[in-house]
This record gives sequence, C-alpha cells and structure tokens, in this order.
Amino acid sequence: MQINKAVVPAGGRGTRLYPVTKAQPKEMLPLGGRPTIQGVAEELLLAGINDILIITSEGKRAIEDHFDPMVGRDGSKVSPEDDSPLFDRSAVTFSYTRQGAPRGLGDAVACGRRFVDDEHFVVSLGDCLILSREPVAPLQRMIAAHTEHNAAASILMQRVSLEATSRYGIADPGDAAGDTAFVMRDIVEKPGPDAAPSRFAVAARYVFSPILFDYLSAQKPGLGAEIQLTDAIRAMIADGHTVLGVPLAPGERRLDVGNLESYARAFVRTMLTDADRGEGLRAYVANLLAHIDDPSHPDPDLPPDS
Ligand code: G1P
Repeated sequence: MQINKAVVPAGGRGTRLYPVTKAQPKEMLPLGGRPTIQGVAEELLLAGINDILIITSEGKRAIEDHFDPMVGRDGSKVSPEDDSPLFDRSAVTFSYTRQGAPRGLGDAVACGRRFVDDEHFVVSLGDCLILSREPVAPLQRMIAAHTEHNAAASILMQRVSLEATSRYGIADPGDAAGDTAFVMRDIVEKPGPDAAPSRFAVAARYVFSPILFDYLSAQKPGLGAEIQLTDAIRAMIADGHTVLGVPLAPGERRLDVGNLESYARAFVRTMLTDADRGEGLRAYVANLLAHIDDPSHPDPDLPPDS
C-alpha cells in the first residue's frame, strides 16, 4: 500500500521542559544539527511520505517559520547544502491546523480528519525521533506489515522498564504476525506496574486506517480528562479490527524531547554520533569527563598552554 500522508501532533505545551519551552516549541529543540521536528519530517520522507499536516497550537509558530523555503535576502533560494542532506524541503508539502484547546492526543489527531480523507495514514509525534541503522527503517517495516495483514492500525513498540509503564500506552501482545510484528489483544494508556499487560510501550509512530476517525469521534474523555488515542485503538481491537505491534529492532532507539533528562540524553547521543562532528566531540567529552573526575587533568575548554 502506498501511504502519502502523515499527521504530526505538535500542540503539546511542553510544561515538563519549562522554562526552556516558555516561548519556544519543544519540537524546535535541536537534536544533532537540526530541530527535532525536521528529523521527524526526514523520517517521513524516507518512508515515501511527502504530504504532512502538523497540528499546532498557541506559541508554535516557529515550526511554520522553520518549514518555509530557505530564501536569501535577495529572494534567491539558499543552496540545498545549507540544509540537512537528508531533507529536501521542496519535496514535501506542509500544512498546518491548530488544536483549539489542549484536549489530548486523540483530539489532536482528530483535527486531521479532512486532510486525511479516506486514505491510510501515518501519525508521528513531533517531539521524538527514531534512530535506526536498519536497512528497512521502522516506518517502512510498519507500512509493510500493515499492508500485508490488512490492519486497521500498526503501532511502533519499544520495551520499557516496569516502572516506566505509567508513562506509556502499553500493549497486550498476542500471536506473531510474520517476522516483524505481533497482533495486539488489548492496549491500555499509562497503566502503571500493577496493571501493565506487558512492557511493550507505544513508541510515538502509528499507521492507521481512516476508520480511526469514527472511533475518535465516539471517544469520551479518558485519563487526565483528555481524548486518548490509545482508548480509540482499544475500541478498534474490541470490535475485532486487526491492530499490530511492530517492535523496534535491537539497534533502534526512540529519542524523546519530552523532559530535560530525556532531551539531554537524546542531544548527547545525536551529537556524539553525528557524521561530521561526532568524532571531535567524543574526544572532547572524554577529556571533559577526565577533567571533571580529576581537576589536574587539562581542562579541554582552555588552550593547552594555560
Ligand atoms: C503519548 C501516548 C502514549 C505513548 C507516548 C509515547 O503519551 O498517549 O500512549 O506511549 O505518547 O509515544 P504522552 O507522552 O503524550 O503523554
């Protein structure tokens, strides 16, 4: 199945990152040499998706400014080399819709109904990246499994610790569906260790049939008095629709910008593995750690003769 459209929710207020996100969207925080949300668009482009709707809200205008074409003062197009090599912005159409009030992830995705119309589509949360060195990236594996098994939803899964199950949608995994997926028997939003049916957590990437929108419009507010995307998926499973979980491969990681600790880790990882700057930065960090542990070791931020 050819999927061309993606909905990218980016309306969350980022309160866990205050004051960093008081006046800037968390999706604009850099990971490697570009804002997080550009990395999300790169992932989509790699999976052949070039029609992207971003769901924004108050204070998120920097995202729209970012995806404007790069033009110089004289109106000429800035050379593509100034952009990420993975990202050709002329190959993507960006549209924007505002979520009027913070009514939850399910409500944000529902804002994409007219854009999606009657096509299967991807949902990629705008505040995290999936790092992959696999030959077939996660979104492509998800789309392939979704098509093969005629699924209504296919969801990327990461394993988390038992304590962390209170921060994620958690799947109840059933039978294998080919080599890359399993059939989901149930899913529950942020259950916590006592109620978690497994340690397979929703990892911010989904492929959906457009029937999702009927389920979203029937949803009553759930956890946190919000319309939960997970609750709509749960109702789809209860009605007998096929919902797949697609686990991350061993070398793959989800990088999350949602709080300062996770952002710091994600930033460090992307910088230290950056193709151009990684090697120099790794040497810098090794020296910095040596200096922090033993102040007599030369401080890498001072010239050698000082
Ligand atoms: C959302 C979803 C949750 C999912 C998580 C990460 O939660 O509701 O099911 O596991 O994203 O993809 P949030 O982090 O917005 O609270």
